[in-house]
Amino acid sequence: MAEQILILDFGSQYTQLIARRVRELNIYCEIHPYNHIPEIGENVKGLILSGSPCSVREKDAPQVDLSPFRGKIPVLGVCYGAQYMANANGGEVLPSEIREYGRAHLVNFNQQNALFQGVKENSQVWMSHGDTIARLPENFEGIASTPSVQVAAYHIKGEETYGIQFHPEVTHSEDGATILKNFAVDICSCKQEWTPESFVETTVSELKKQLGNDQVVLGLSGGVDSSVAAMLLHKAIGGNLHCIFVDNGLLRKNEFEDVLASYKGMGLNVVGVDAKDKFYAALHGISDPEGKRKAIGRVFIEVFDDEAHRIQDVKWLGQGTIYPDIIESVSVKGPSATIKSHHNVGGLPDFMKLQVVEPLKSLFKDEVRRVGKSLDIDPAILGRHPFPGPGLGIRILGEVTPEKVHILQEVDYLFIQGLKKHGLYDFVWQAGAVLLPVQSVGVMGDERTYESVVALRAVSSVDGMTADWCHLPYEFLGEVSNDIINKVKGVNRVVYDISSKPPATIEWE
Ligand code: XMP
Repeated sequence: MAEQILILDFGSQYTQLIARRVRELNIYCEIHPYNHIPEIGENVKGLILSGSPCSVREKDAPQVDLSPFRGKIPVLGVCYGAQYMANANGGEVLPSEIREYGRAHLVNFNQQNALFQGVKENSQVWMSHGDTIARLPENFEGIASTPSVQVAAYHIKGEETYGIQFHPEVTHSEDGATILKNFAVDICSCKQEWTPESFVETTVSELKKQLGNDQVVLGLSGGVDSSVAAMLLHKAIGGNLHCIFVDNGLLRKNEFEDVLASYKGMGLNVVGVDAKDKFYAALHGISDPEGKRKAIGRVFIEVFDDEAHRIQDVKWLGQGTIYPDIIESVSVKGPSATIKSHHNVGGLPDFMKLQVVEPLKSLFKDEVRRVGKSLDIDPAILGRHPFPGPGLGIRILGEVTPEKVHILQEVDYLFIQGLKKHGLYDFVWQAGAVLLPVQSVGVMGDERTYESVVALRAVSSVDGMTADWCHLPYEFLGEVSNDIINKVKGVNRVVYDISSKPPATIEWE
């Protein structure tokens, strides 16, 4: 088992960021809810207690028994984590007289302390708390202040336990990364050996052990996650991995052929299934977005199941589930931790009775990309914009017909090719076109036209949870709009979507 730092989550919005910062140091770490602590093995080298929206002064504030950890492995409490340890050991935590949010500067800090090696005097840190540690318990020593907070950090004498009332994980804390590195590398003695290459090596050897000579089926989507999952499985079990790539008739122009060719080039054992007609038949007469999603999901499972049954003795379903699909900040107010149930590939068909293997379930998206790069996966696959499972089906507002799919494929193609040609594709997180159920009057030559309107959408985002519209150059938008109207029969007007999420969403349906 790889060395790791364990993060106990008390529900802070920043918990995932702590994990990311630790992993950026090439040290593996996992987040677990404070009330679902896993068994601790020798490989756990240190513990971080996260922040929380709760106050330690509330009656039902999250509690945790730290006796299995303290004095045995190093512990770092961040914000609530720091206040919790101070409060639980006889110190005093009171509401702050002034609200401590935003920028502050570290002063009077103990430069000899291992936690602060290399930290600059006056270093900016980010505060976000309504309580403050007013008095430290015996045996705790203050090791840093800010102009308004006496105890910005402390150390418990005789053990490697620390508390900091600011957030080292946010980029506004200038020396936050140094402080986390001091904790994880110098104090916990983690070796910084968790790299994409080491991940591939350990994962492949674990998959070999787990799967033996079993047959595995996996649905490819053309996206990053399923492609990387497939390559890892392929490295582990070779020809025992059977990939299925379904053409649901709602893919981008040429996508089925292009993606299939690049998978075959990667040596994957992949079957392409042309099921367009089944999907179009199921979508006939349905205009409601959820109805369309359900129909697409149902047919996908039918087609996938049919193909999977052709594989003899298949025992496992491979999935490209990633870490954010599995973890979600613990619901600290609830009676127990609620963890997001995840679904991928349209949901696991229960009737298939397959066991699930998810080789990427501990990785964030950018880590999946780095692993993909170390596996030499085509950069065109690794850099692809996200694309929804129901595809163009939810970008054709109203009923889906093959004719409308054809129009939208052409429009989308010109837009995406245009972005690539102008070097804009990689600056955009996701882009696509939407066919509106609206016709508008136009004029072409001497003729009046009455044809469809399309909307172009391009957004910047980190994870799709929030997004902003991209400020694409007017010249580019003008050129693409001209191109679309001139080349795509049936479209005489192009608009650009300038809504952010929230309140709008990325997709229109
Ligand atoms: P929204 O529209 O919710 O989209 O802002 C956020 C991200 O999710 C994708 N999306 C979907 N993906 N099935 C999927 O697999 C869906 O039904 C679906 N709806 C939205 C969307 O493309 C964006 O990346």
